[in-house]
Amino acid sequence: NEFQTIYQQIKEEKILLLSKYFYQEVGLQSDLRALYPEDLEGAEERLFLFLLQVFGGPTTYSESRGHPRLRMRHLNWKIDSHLRNVWLNCMLKAIDKLGIEQNAKGIMQDYFVKAANHMINHQ
Ligand code: HEM
Repeated sequence: NEFQTIYQQIKEEKILLLSKYFYQEVGLQSDLRALYPEDLEGAEERLFLFLLQVFGGPTTYSESRGHPRLRMRHLNWKIDSHLRNVWLNCMLKAIDKLGIEQNAKGIMQDYFVKAANHMINHQ
């Protein structure tokens, strides 16, 4: 699928930067930040490896964490539309900072909108 062409276009370096910028944004949103561990390093690494895999790079994420089953893993938290919006805004801001061409950017934005909608598990 089209997500799997992103890795070739933006390379590992920008996926790493995306994870870093995303958690910088999370750090500014106290209601979202409160859900994450105090030390964000592990979370950043997990997101980076997951995104590498989603966007067509190495599958290290599943080799170490197993099948993503992201919706299930997120049942630990009550994710309503507000939290989804805050999360998604952090990710969209992080994407903007990457300075990548519009085609790749559009594909990534679409992916994250759908993925974030899918993670809602509370009214
Ligand atoms: C893990 C929150 C959406 C990908 C986590 C964690 C939290 C969280 C608190 C635990 C951090 C950690 O790894 O220690 C949320 C909230 C969302 C959301 C509030 C609102 C919609 C998403 C979306 C994706 C995603 C849309 C993917 C596109 C991940 C991944 C992990 C994770 C890959 C690590 C899973 C693991 O291997 O344990 N999320 N998340 N999250 N999240 Fe989200």
